[in-house]
Amino acid sequence: MSGDVLILGGGSEIGLALARAWAGEGRTIRLAARQTARLAPEIERLRASGAAEVTTHEWDVLDAGSTTRLFDGLPRTPEIVVMAVGLYDHPDCDLLMRSNFNGPALAVEAAARYLGASGGGWIVGISSVAGDRGRASNYPYGAAKAGFTAWLSGLRARLHGKSVRVMTVKPGPVATRMIAGRSVPAPLLCSADRVASAVVAAHRAGREVVYVPWFWRPIMAAVRALPEPLFKRLRLG
Ligand SMILES: NC(=O)c1ccc[n+]([C@@H]2O[C@H](COP(=O)([O-])OP(=O)(O)OC[C@H]3O[C@@H](n4cnc5c(N)ncnc54)[C@H](OP(=O)(O)O)[C@@H]3O)[C@@H](O)[C@H]2O)c1
Repeated sequence: MSGDVLILGGGSEIGLALARAWAGEGRTIRLAARQTARLAPEIERLRASGAAEVTTHEWDVLDAGSTTRLFDGLPRTPEIVVMAVGLYDHPDCDLLMRSNFNGPALAVEAAARYLGASGGGWIVGISSVAGDRGRASNYPYGAAKAGFTAWLSGLRARLHGKSVRVMTVKPGPVATRMIAGRSVPAPLLCSADRVASAVVAAHRAGREVVYVPWFWRPIMAAVRALPEPLFKRLRLG
């Protein structure tokens, strides 16, 4: 039987798309979010999508105690834990770093401990192509995502050969409220549902680093390879 899915950042559009995709496999879905009262319509949607059960849990990524309370309070350990929290383009740089790096990193570390103590499972961290190289626009977000990517990579290496697997997901721009109002050329924009399908397929195939859409892997390899003097002059947004 398929195990439970816990979405940390359960109100996020990408997180909810993933929840619907896994609900379709008849799994139990648990949504952990700051304001669970807002999730009532999503609960109905997840039930209609086929979820065995849907539960919500008050949780804040900036409060490590709430992560402990969350895992201690679950009736059983999930098979998959998704980290979908993110904060984009916020004037408070410290909040941005804590929301995109410190909080998510410590929460996936805690998840790894809980999963490891109960037979294993998967941690899925939603990072970003923005973490592959610091660009002129919004590099605080990119730097925090770079840190999160490195954390996931280290965690994966530490757990190699053990029962807990770690997936890093690096989407390009996704049409969610997070980037509403930003102008992105249509061919580069993808939907939250497309991210969800790619992650579900990667989980099934046991893949650990996933660019969505796939073309960001070669694009970001080229961007990373650009010499610094040229990279500066190109002013990639
Ligand atoms: N959209 C994109 O273009 C894009 C591209 C690459 C990667 N990503 C990443 O994908 C993930 C999901 O983003 P999204 O596009 O689905 O945007 P979203 O709908 O804005 O989701 C972000 C979520 O983070 C939650 N959050 C922020 N601070 C939190 C805190 N202190 N405690 C708990 N939850 C908190 C928000 O909760 P509230 O609902 O309470 O505000 C929101 O549900 C993020 O990690 C994002 O960085 C997005």
